[in-house]
Order: sequence, then C-alpha cells, then structure tokens
Amino acid sequence: MLITFEGIDGCGKSTQATLLADRLHQENIETLLLREPGGTELSEHIRALLLHKEFTRPLCPEAELLLFAASRAQLIHEVIKPALERGAIVILDRFTDSTIAYQGFGRGIALDIITQINRLASNEIEPDLTFLFDISLKVASARRESSGKDRIESESEVFYTHVIQGYMYQAQHHNERMNVLDGTAPIETLQHQIWRLFQEERGRDIKNAHHLDQ
Ligand code: TYD
Repeated sequence: MLITFEGIDGCGKSTQATLLADRLHQENIETLLLREPGGTELSEHIRALLLHKEFTRPLCPEAELLLFAASRAQLIHEVIKPALERGAIVILDRFTDSTIAYQGFGRGIALDIITQINRLASNEIEPDLTFLFDISLKVASARRESSGKDRIESESEVFYTHVIQGYMYQAQHHNERMNVLDGTAPIETLQHQIWRLFQEERGRDIKNAHHLDQ
C-alpha cells in the first residue's frame, strides 16, 4: 500500500508521516518512510541541487520539473516498486500531487505535460491513500520562519496561493484517495484521524485481495 502526505511547506505533514510509520513499526508491519525529493543516492544528489544549490542564474521551471521527475523515477525503480511488490507499506512525504501543485499551479507548466511526466516517473504507480494538510498561508509561513528556508520555501505569497489552489484541485479530482485534514488541529487529533482512515483503507485492501483469491 502506498500512502502519501501532502501540503504546503510548514503544514505539519512530516510529523504525521513519522507518527504513522512509528505506529506501523510497533505493530510489526514492514513499513518504509521516504521523502521526495530523495531516498536514493542519485535522488539525494538531486535534492541537494533542487533545494540547497545557490545558482547564479535561476533554475528554469522545465529543468526543475525534470529534476524532480528524475529523482522520483530512481526512487520508484530502486526502492518503492520492489517494496510494494513484497507487500510492504510505503509512506511517502510528497509525491505526484506536489508536482501538480508546485510545478503545475505554482510555476505554470501545463497540467497535461505534468501528468505525462508524473506517469513516466512513477511507473504509473498511484497512491492508495493521500493525506492533504490544509493550512493557511499565514500559519504555514509563521511555522517556516522559525525553521529557516530553502530555495523553494523562499518563493512569494502569490506562488504559494497558486500551490494551495493546485492542491485543492487535486483533492476535488481525486476524492477517492485524497483526505483533506485540518493542518491546525492538535497533533493527537490528526494522528487518530489518520490511523482511522488508514485502517479503513487496509480493510478494503484485505477484502479486495480476498475477493481476488476466490
Ligand atoms: P522539503 O524540505 O522536503 O519540504 P517539506 O519538508 O515541506 O516537504 O522540500 C521539498 C520541496 O520541494 C518543497 O518545497 C516542495 C518541493 N517539491 C516540488 O516543488 N515538486 C515536487 O514534485 C516535489 C516532490 C517537491
């Protein structure tokens, strides 16, 4: 099962992704917690380029898109696909919805192109369950201020307004897998909601597998 955590920088998704992974480890369920960009040797090099490299000339949107895609393709090939094939649960802090929101709505690259590139990079693997953390720009930027900003986090308010619109667009179009959660709710409340939704999805998964066996 592939579970993804999404939302703007500072929304709290990484905390919840870690809490879910910890709980699954406690239950002795094989679980991988990964983040994008990153997770393989190549992908970590690309992450450093994308987030930390100071370029004298700005990275153009197309190059940025293809670097995120290259990082993803390697992670899928090397780690995620084999893990899913052996029945592990993969928790991913950001995935294809981030590309739609940031490179599509944020940078303005056409959505049909992003969709094609996402399909190629992800080997057509789609999340079974996605948690989208809804939070206002004001709260998110106050949280970000206190922890230092990387290249993308230094983008303007207009950029982030578009990113949020992108996420809401995805939530509307993929409501079968996307759950919008209140990013300002207490950590424990969110943790319980996520656990409940995970169990529901797991129940469906087991039922389907049983159905196929018969
Ligand atoms: P990261 O430090 O992991 O941010 P966070 O902890 O908020 O997830 O940095 C990832 C950054 O990369 C984040 O600003 C979103 C951006 N991003 C994209 O623009 N497109 C993508 O496809 C992905 C996966 C991430």
